Amino acid sequence: MCKWAADYIAAKIRAHREERPFVLGLPTGSSPIGVYRELVRQNRAGELSFANVVSFNMDEYLGLPREHEQSYWTFMHENFFDHLTDMKSENINILNGMTDDPEGECARYEEKIASYGGIDLFLGGIGVDGHIAFNEPYTSLTSRTGVRDLTTDTRIVNSRFFGGDPEAVPAQALSVGVGTVTDAREVLILINGHNKARALAATVEGGVSQKWTCSALQLHPNAIIACDEAACGELLVDTYRYFLDIERKERL
Ligand code: GLP
Repeated sequence: MCKWAADYIAAKIRAHREERPFVLGLPTGSSPIGVYRELVRQNRAGELSFANVVSFNMDEYLGLPREHEQSYWTFMHENFFDHLTDMKSENINILNGMTDDPEGECARYEEKIASYGGIDLFLGGIGVDGHIAFNEPYTSLTSRTGVRDLTTDTRIVNSRFFGGDPEAVPAQALSVGVGTVTDAREVLILINGHNKARALAATVEGGVSQKWTCSALQLHPNAIIACDEAACGELLVDTYRYFLDIERKERL
């Protein structure tokens, strides 16, 4: 899954011939780690340049300093940016979780994205409850970058990175909105593992609903889900066959 997604992203960056930079939206989480590894490999092998890439990360915990080992700033640098040979640090955008003006920080983020002409490709993952970035169930599907309260469920799931203590997980985050993600020209979402099977089914088979914020992808003209077999466990046989069928045709 990650190799496929990395090759897809790399091809898009290589094909970008315009003078303006290629604008890439990026997620954290375990799902994209393999994508980052492969993009780094291609970059270090001289096959892919990031010199003309500007990135915007999806989210950041509110109240965690950059240097905190669980900040998304640290995650992104350790898993990706520090290993790239030609990514310019001034082209890396990550919401500041220590801002004393969260609303202003979020408004400036939206403005900065717009100043580059919007996001070309937004890579993302989803939570087990279908959250996209930190847009928990019942977040408006038209939401923009802002402050988000994390649900107890998400804090429990993410407590694995905070010594198993849900209370140690920040209660709030800054996050791009569902609308910020779906405004991107292309959206590529990674969904893997049995624990995401319900969310994948809701994303592609359920109705468009704020209960599953990932379902907003159904309204996007250019959204791709890259998933593994385990995540397909709750799909109807019909759905599974349909997507296998179009995948085979694409390969021909
Ligand atoms: C966090 C992030 C999401 C991410 C999710 C899933 O909640 N805010 O952007 O999609 O985790 O993470 P994982 O890929 O580890 O399952």
